[in-house]
Amino acid sequence: MTTLADRWGIHPSQSWLHGRQPEHPVSFDEEHGTWDVYGYAEAVEILGDHKRFSSDFSTVFPGMADESQSAGNILQMDPPDHRKLRTLVSHAFTPKMVADLEPRIAELTGELLDNVAGRDEFDLVTELAYPLPVIVIAELLGVPGSDRELFRKWADLLFTDPEPLSLNDEDGEQMRRFEKQQEELQPMLDYLHAHAAERRRHPREDLLSKLVQAEVDGEQLTDLQVVNFANILLLAGHITTTMLLGNTVLCLDGNPDQAERVRADRRLVPSAIEESLRLLSPFAQVARVTTIEVELGGRKIPPNQVLMVWLSAANHDVRQFDRPDVFDPARDPNPHLAFGRGVHFCLGAPLARLEGRIAMNVLLDRFPTLRTDPANPPSFMVAPSTLGVRHLPLRT
Ligand code: HEM
Repeated sequence: MTTLADRWGIHPSQSWLHGRQPEHPVSFDEEHGTWDVYGYAEAVEILGDHKRFSSDFSTVFPGMADESQSAGNILQMDPPDHRKLRTLVSHAFTPKMVADLEPRIAELTGELLDNVAGRDEFDLVTELAYPLPVIVIAELLGVPGSDRELFRKWADLLFTDPEPLSLNDEDGEQMRRFEKQQEELQPMLDYLHAHAAERRRHPREDLLSKLVQAEVDGEQLTDLQVVNFANILLLAGHITTTMLLGNTVLCLDGNPDQAERVRADRRLVPSAIEESLRLLSPFAQVARVTTIEVELGGRKIPPNQVLMVWLSAANHDVRQFDRPDVFDPARDPNPHLAFGRGVHFCLGAPLARLEGRIAMNVLLDRFPTLRTDPANPPSFMVAPSTLGVRHLPLRT
């Protein structure tokens, strides 16, 4: 069987593609001084236990996790601080608020696809999969969607480094790359600072206004916390969804029989999206730090070790998923880990799912014969933490 990975050469760096995980659910990466976790059960154990597996990297990467980056960075917090910030944001980001976005998402999808009407070919990412989620998250936050080229530039800065995180940085090369990246990203923080300051003066009905007004234990968030949090929402909130839309189209394209099935029965669209998330998990890897000695996958791991939890690999674990390389749009149950698990479970999952469902339905409605072009193949993101298309040329 030719998998999508074989066909398009997706991420050769990801050793999980070679089916290692059943024999080696956990292994030490000598070169980078980190541990790779490929197994599903092991990933679930890690994500479900923040006491032994922390998200706070300040002890292992002191220079990369100082106050300026960690304040308000929900992804790098453990309970109880994490819970406080999460509760606050959950209030500002309710299921109703997401559900209310449905008409706007449908309208935007329609407008974006109007631009390609009558064309023989178009790049799905440029025309739909990038602009749709970025405009939605920008409008939600309350920053102009028309600034999206800026957001793309900043997201690119974050996700174009093909090097994995390493604890072996004796020559300081990784630190220099990190500092350079921070310097280049400063304009983004200044941009969000300016918008947050404006909302403190003139609140509106947007998420940024809610964040500047919100209180945790009687205290308002500082500007730094608001800006770092808004930054996560802005960046995490669009690039991943861009990949989800592109990857789902790629899955359907690579499985014409299944695509026909989904076209014929649109009730399968949501489960097809879940299956795409499992098969090609956009947020391929999350990291944790051991707080004490742990035993995992038959290995003893000392405290203060960095674990790279490959969600993309866990989602292919044969011990958990029957025929894991097969795209089955009706797979049920499908307990994939593409949105994580436990206290850090993706806050934006309902929004990503809604955007996916609407966009896929409109695409299927408008293009009965959408397909990839062997002469013009897709390209992929290169950062090891990502798994998904960067460009996806399609023929109509
Ligand atoms: C957390 C994946 C879309 C906001 C996460 C995590 C994953 C993930 C794996 C857990 C990280 C960890 O455990 O360390 C994805 C994927 C998406 C997506 C695959 C799209 C297909 C979104 C969107 C938003 C968003 C649209 C915002 C609107 C967040 C936030 C967190 C998070 C704020 C941190 C939650 C916490 O730490 O409590 N996401 N995400 N994500 N995601 Fe998403």
